[in-house]
Amino acid sequence: MKIFLDTADIDQITSLMPSQMVDGVTTNPSLIAKSGRDIKQTIAEICTIVPGPVSAEVTATDLATMRKEADVLSAIADNVAVKVPLTPDGLQLCAELSAQGIMVNVTLCFTAGQALLAAKAGARFISPFVGRLDDLGQDGMGLISDIVDIYSNYDFATEVLVASVRSTQHVTDAAIMGADVVTIPPAILGQLYKHPLTDKGLDAFLADWQKTGQSIL
Ligand code: G3P
Repeated sequence: MKIFLDTADIDQITSLMPSQMVDGVTTNPSLIAKSGRDIKQTIAEICTIVPGPVSAEVTATDLATMRKEADVLSAIADNVAVKVPLTPDGLQLCAELSAQGIMVNVTLCFTAGQALLAAKAGARFISPFVGRLDDLGQDGMGLISDIVDIYSNYDFATEVLVASVRSTQHVTDAAIMGADVVTIPPAILGQLYKHPLTDKGLDAFLADWQKTGQSIL
């Protein structure tokens, strides 16, 4: 399963690249706003740091203006994935861009029916927002399971990109269900490494090793 970082923070991305765990980046207008930086400069810089897909979202809602924005964003770098909202105009643009060979990430997906339409529109990625469904007491990961099943029934090439991830449990559940990608805040990646028994066990190994007086080097 691929791991994307869900952030526009250049320093966080840069610091995590040596981990060899970062396969791409997703941004959205809120994450760009949080960065306090220009979207085009930020996406261009991220694309030089991360060789994998970097999602940059259009901010218009009408097809004509989204087309113009998509032209600007896709021209930034070859690894830009244009992010479009799951609306009729967004999916029409998705079909147009996909036909041109441009990666499209369809975002703000909350039902399996929406995901079906995005796949038919040729999306490279579909982004179901599991955390926001859970926040309403609905079954976010159940949606992922349904989408994975539907896509496998019809051999759709669209990759299921689990978004709005709130916990390491979301990550492991997504992997169990066969999702293609999770996009996670940097803090969640850090949490994936951690377990108290790992720390405790390592301390015990090193304490016993210390008593031997040996050195491997
Ligand atoms: O990539 C989408 C993600 O940033 C949304 O997350 O926590 O705002 O639901 P959240």
